[in-house]
Formats: sequence, structure tokens, C-alpha cells
Amino acid sequence: MTDVSETKKPGDRKITRLADLTASQQADIRQIPAEKDFVNVPLAAERPNGIFTGRDRFDAEQTGVFRRFPVPVTLAAVLPEPGSVVAVEAYGLPLLVSRNRAGEIKVFINACQHKGSKLIEDCEVHEQSRITCPYHAWTYGIDGKLLGVARSDMFEGLDKSKRGLKQLPSVVWGGVVYVQLDGREPDCSNLSAEVAGDFEALGIPEAHVYGRKTFDLKANWKLVLEPFLEGYHVQRLHAASIGDLFVDAPSIVSTFGPNIRQVSGRIGYYPEMLDEDPDNNVHKLVTFAYTAFPNLVIVTSQYYISAMILMPIDVDRTIVHYFMLTPGPATTAKAEEVFKRSYELILNVFGNEDFRAAQITHEGLAAGVPETSTYCGLEVNIIHYYEAFEQLL
Ligand code: FES
Ligand SMILES: [Fe+2]
Repeated sequence: MTDVSETKKPGDRKITRLADLTASQQADIRQIPAEKDFVNVPLAAERPNGIFTGRDRFDAEQTGVFRRFPVPVTLAAVLPEPGSVVAVEAYGLPLLVSRNRAGEIKVFINACQHKGSKLIEDCEVHEQSRITCPYHAWTYGIDGKLLGVARSDMFEGLDKSKRGLKQLPSVVWGGVVYVQLDGREPDCSNLSAEVAGDFEALGIPEAHVYGRKTFDLKANWKLVLEPFLEGYHVQRLHAASIGDLFVDAPSIVSTFGPNIRQVSGRIGYYPEMLDEDPDNNVHKLVTFAYTAFPNLVIVTSQYYISAMILMPIDVDRTIVHYFMLTPGPATTAKAEEVFKRSYELILNVFGNEDFRAAQITHEGLAAGVPETSTYCGLEVNIIHYYEAFEQLL
């Protein structure tokens, strides 16, 4: 998958029209029935408590998935400029993600080859072509080469060419930076080319990162994921915020291996709306929600896209990297006001509602109750996802 952010820049695209989407996204949208015509089907499905609270299960997920396949660590859009670097805490590892002069993304362990000190301690994007260790000032290029050693005359026989930063294999897939944490050649067999094409059609590779925030949650990562796979909670958990913007939504679901695309009509949706004005912002009509293997969530809104990477740290701990993406930086005071309000709203909805639900659910499950979680017809995508995921364990 090519990284298109070298050619397109934030702000090139103002809105996304139906015609900007892929043929398969458009086909799914065209299948969404009007609210009044939609029929949900009941379901009986369960999962045992241990998939959320068991140490064995957590370890099996680590070996079977998170250390075996490439995992997302950040978005290419975080580094729009060649010659920039950002530190990311990823799955318990300190990483550096850089974009070199040629526009290529590389990933390194954020550790000095002298004695291991972290090189960049903050999480800001640094536009610089060199990285200097804060400890004894060894200097590296953002390509990882060791360029300079202070008082190099004091090191006998030091071979600088053997002390470059430790690089991890990575791929950019639909604008998402994936890393193979165990250092092997990335096995991309569970990543979907279809989903990468969708992300490109949505403008994710060249989006503007309006805001980023990291959440450290006391909950199993799957409890953080579940609300993004079901509409059952929306009118209820979000009653005070966005609940009345959504019905128990008519949605069309496509699966691509262990990747799920859901698209639903916004409130009051009827299919004829699609053809009323071809220049309409399609995000005003429908909402896309993706779960991309294994732990990346994308949700579209009218004026922005939310991206979340849910990184399992322990059985009961998940670090979420949240990104709010806009087509470009705000160019008017009114646009800035809309983005600012949206950012506050979405951090409140996800942070104080969805993530809170995950944490209070983990507390109950950790007390052993219920012995099995039970899922209904409005939660069927969770079961689709678990079935595909469990095959890999
Ligand atoms: S640990 Fe980095 S220069 Fe010494
Ligand atoms: Fe939610």
C-alpha cells in the first residue's frame, strides 16, 4: 500500500462526496434502508468472563496476535512533514516514528545505543533531522544512523556503523503505521486491502491531526472495543450527549477477514437523500465505523474522523491513543470553533461515557460477575469480530 501523504497535503480536500468513496463503500451505503424499513434480528450468544479477566487468555492474545502480526502504533498523518519524528509509547515499548527526507516512515526503539537512555521523552512532533541523546549527547539521524559521538577519542575501536538505532519492520497501510513488534518480516495477511482503500477514500493518509490524546484505562482492551462494534448502548449510555442523534441504527456490515466495516444512516435517513445533491458532504448522511485488525477503530462524523488505537498493556489495562482528524487545519474562526467544540464533545463522549463503561464493566467482571456475558441482535458485530479473532489464538 503506498503512502499517498507525500503527494496530497492536509487541506487539499474540503469535503467528502459520495463519489469520492470506493465502489464497495458506495454499494454498502446504497443498501442502507430507511429507518422505518429496517428489521433487526435477535441473537443468542455468550462469551465467558475469562476472555476479559483471564491471564491465560491475555497471554495467548499477546503471542497469537499482538506479537505475531503487525500492529498499529500511530497514523502517518501525525508526521506530515519530511524530516520529523515523534515518540510513541506502544504496547509497553518506547518507539520513535520518523518520516525521513524522502517521505518514508521508519520505526525505531526509542533507546540510545550507548547505554539505553530514551532519546525523546515527550510526545510532541519534532521537526528536526537529528536526534541527540539527553545523557551523553550521541547524535542520530532520523534514518537511525549514529552520526556523532561526543569525545569519540575516548572510545577504543567503537564502530559507529554498528550502533545505529534499532529499527523495527513497519508498513503504512491506509495511512496507519503498523509495526511488527517481534522484529520479523511483517505478516500482513490479516490486514485488508479493501479497508486500506476505504481509508484512502476517506482522506485518512493526508488528514490534518487536529488533536491527539492518550487515555490510560483500567479495563481489558476488548471492553474498550465493544461499544464501537454495537449500537445497542448508543441511545442509552449516551442519552445525555449524542444518544438522540442515533436510532438503533439501520446499518450495513461488511467483513474482510477480521476487519469490520459498518455504515449506518444518520437520524432521519432515507435512501433518496443520496441523490438529492451530488455535492453533499456524505458524512452528513451516513456514519462509518471500522474495526481494523486487530485494535484500530475509525468512526466518521460530519466534520471530522476519530481514530483510536487500543493498546493492551495488561489484562486490566489499556492505553488508547485517540486522534481527531479534519480535512485540513481550520481556515476560518468559525471552522476553528466547530473543530474545538467537536473535540471537546468527542473527548467527553468517548472518555466519560464509552471508556467509563469499559472501566465499570471490568470492575464487575473482575468480581466474577457475570460468569458469561450475553449478547443480543444489536451486538452481533462483536460476535463476528470475536469469531474471527479467536481463530488466530
Ligand atoms: S546513553 Fe545516550 S549518549 Fe549515553
Ligand atoms: Fe458509544
